[in-house]
Amino acid sequence: MPELTFKGKIHVANHHLVVPFHELVAVKSKGVAKTPGLHDNLLLHGDNLLALKALLPTHAGKVKCIIIDPPYNTGNEGWAYNDKVNSPLMRDWLGKTIDREDLTRHDKWCCMMLPRLKLLRELLTEDGSIFICIDDNEVHHLRCLMDEVFGEENFVANIIWEKKYSTKSDAEFLSESHDFIVCFAKNTRSFKLRGLPRTEKQDSIYRNPDSDPRGNWTSDNLLRTEARDYAIFPIKSPKTGKETYPAKGSSWRYTKEKIAELIADNRIWFGEEGNATPRFKRFLSEVQTSIPARTIWNFTDVGHSDEARKEVNQIFTDFTETFATPKPIRLIQRILQIASDKDSLILDSFAGSGTTGHAVLKQNAEDGGSRRFVLIECEEYADTTTAERIRRCIKGVPGAKDVALKKGYGGSFSFFKLGEAVALQTILESRDLPSYETLAAYVFFTATGEQFDPAAIKPKTGFIGRSRGFDVYLLYTPDIEALKDLALDLESVRKLPKPTGSRKRLVYAPTRFMDDALLHQNGIVFSQLPYEIYERVEKSAK
Ligand SMILES: C[S@@+](CC[C@H](N)C(=O)[O-])C[C@H]1O[C@@H](n2cnc3c(N)ncnc32)[C@H](O)[C@@H]1O
Repeated sequence: MPELTFKGKIHVANHHLVVPFHELVAVKSKGVAKTPGLHDNLLLHGDNLLALKALLPTHAGKVKCIIIDPPYNTGNEGWAYNDKVNSPLMRDWLGKTIDREDLTRHDKWCCMMLPRLKLLRELLTEDGSIFICIDDNEVHHLRCLMDEVFGEENFVANIIWEKKYSTKSDAEFLSESHDFIVCFAKNTRSFKLRGLPRTEKQDSIYRNPDSDPRGNWTSDNLLRTEARDYAIFPIKSPKTGKETYPAKGSSWRYTKEKIAELIADNRIWFGEEGNATPRFKRFLSEVQTSIPARTIWNFTDVGHSDEARKEVNQIFTDFTETFATPKPIRLIQRILQIASDKDSLILDSFAGSGTTGHAVLKQNAEDGGSRRFVLIECEEYADTTTAERIRRCIKGVPGAKDVALKKGYGGSFSFFKLGEAVALQTILESRDLPSYETLAAYVFFTATGEQFDPAAIKPKTGFIGRSRGFDVYLLYTPDIEALKDLALDLESVRKLPKPTGSRKRLVYAPTRFMDDALLHQNGIVFSQLPYEIYERVEKSAK
């Protein structure tokens, strides 16, 4: 497979692995939830590289549909490459706003996207998919990055969204009127897209000119553009006796016997007069109630950019919201309709004005779903625009035309900001130790690569979760003095519950007072905090 090279690639290829885990700290006052929690609808305020990594312990493998709309890199969006990659080249790039004169702007964009795409992939369910809005500035680079991260065999479609209804009369060459939505599955073998419900317009081509008791029908061509000898014969109209041969170079779709059967069943249409080229009658009652979505999405069906701006403005009637590049709600709903189940988790890590959250709430209101969303936004307007839009959608927008929005869609969401990095090397010297749950999430996920569930924690025994190979324990308390005395010894081993099934017990503790033989005898794998925390113990244990 051809591979894209770009400046800085070597430095970012594994950057997602070294990005530290950060605590997620609830800001109750900014959410709409009695008790904020990570299983609620979420808005995370912070850089998505850190936020995605922070989500891994609780959300890896759980997201059914990712919808992102990253900077298009037009050269006038005011974005800057800010990832703290450890390389002089990259440090030199930091914080500089990217404009059209910047000769490395495409390299920077690729460097920004690559580690994020890798983390996003880890968050998807096996049957999940990702939809990425983009335009001609970066679509070709994006396709290459996606081939690399997701595998070209998992490419699904490059959808064209008609974003404008008007023509730009002063366009230099062509009046650009579409964006792309690049779709990849995590794994096309386990992936399915839903069809769209048939529309009245689609049904309106079905009529019943011969008053067939089976109801409305439409007709399909009976010809195949290939001359197969066995299917070249005259078809005789029962009404007029006129015989029709397939056109030169073609043949009928069916054998002589099959055509005779179809004529007897009144399934072949020869036109009102009985003289037309025969066609096959297809009944509306026999076609599927849903049809596959097409790869061209018109603004009449899914909205346009102006509509999106109006939608944001109708929510912020008390001040002028100047968010420049929102997507229409109908566009995001279309993705939800084809790519999510009613109870799916949806993620948007470039949330902007929060359209994805709005669309999830609206779609749930319309089809009785219980989808949840996770939004990530790094700018200050994460609170004043993104969260405010969600707050208003939940509580109601008095001036809204949409009755459900006016009343409020209801539900809840929790607002989190990024806290301290869980800096494990310094953990024992630090005064600011991470909470038990934060460290448990980190330890469990890093050691097992499996999902952490905070509800599984049993503080009495130090149990923090069960993976395929281990019952995992963490002996830890966020108190430096207490930590000095905390060790795995025979007494603490005796207090541990028996292992479940053939699992071993994996115990994290600051130190141990037991030798290897004794640990082995007791079926225990010991990991010392903090140095061995990085090891994927399960892998090495195999
Ligand atoms: C094109 S806008 C998304 C618009 C959104 N689809 C909507 O309908 O409102 C891109 C958003 O991604 C945000 N963003 C860019 N880089 C980010 C990062 N590293 N972490 C989090 N958000 C980021 C920007 O601040 C901006 O709000």
